[in-house]
Amino acid sequence: MMKLIHAGLNILAFVFAAVSLVAVFDFHNGADIPNMYSLHSWVGLACVILYSLQIVMGLCVYLLPITPGALRGAFMPIHVYSGLFIFSTVIATALMGITEKLIFGLKNPKYKDSPPEAVLVNVLGLLITAFGGLILWISTRPSWKRPSEQLLSRAGAGSGSPKGSVILSVSPTTDRDNPGANSNTSKRN
Ligand code: HEM
Repeated sequence: MMKLIHAGLNILAFVFAAVSLVAVFDFHNGADIPNMYSLHSWVGLACVILYSLQIVMGLCVYLLPITPGALRGAFMPIHVYSGLFIFSTVIATALMGITEKLIFGLKNPKYKDSPPEAVLVNVLGLLITAFGGLILWISTRPSWKRPSEQLLSRAGAGSGSPKGSVILSVSPTTDRDNPGANSNTSKRN
């Protein structure tokens, strides 16, 4: 269930990103502004392309029932690393985007004169950075990990135990891709 929510929310976020890209390209084309000249646009487009690959790979590896369990386990560290990398890059892109907007948008007084709008958006930038740091902290804490769904369903399907039955004890070496899962199971339950 959590896997489906994770996939669904990411697909929704990707749809929003695609719509916003179409809007900005349309705006540039309509106003005769060159496309893809800024670092913001290069890093931003790279993020969206990587995000699309992350979603396709995630769907193929984790939602297709035919994908072997060994492949799912082997791919997990790559999936986690790319997710965090793309997320961090999106934070950097947003910071560059709001800075550009201030430089282009504020004419009189200018950005360098620190009008209230500039201070407000600088504070927004600090909040975006703090949000990024918080999410990276949470997502790298083993104690915040939920018990591995894969492990639970694999054991339920393969060991002859009834589907949905709960595993009370799991060897720490069994779930190498999710080292916090076992301690977590006992802490939460
Ligand atoms: C975080 C996700 C974001 C992504 C992936 C992204 C991506 C892009 C891309 C690819 C372009 C180039 C469009 C073109 O060349 O026609 C662009 C332009 C632009 N974006 Fe963003 N953007 C993001 C967030 C933001 C934010 C939060 C702002 C703040 C208002 C912003 C402001 C701008 C501006 C002013 C331009 C036009 C100037 C330029 O091409 O650099 N962006 N964005």
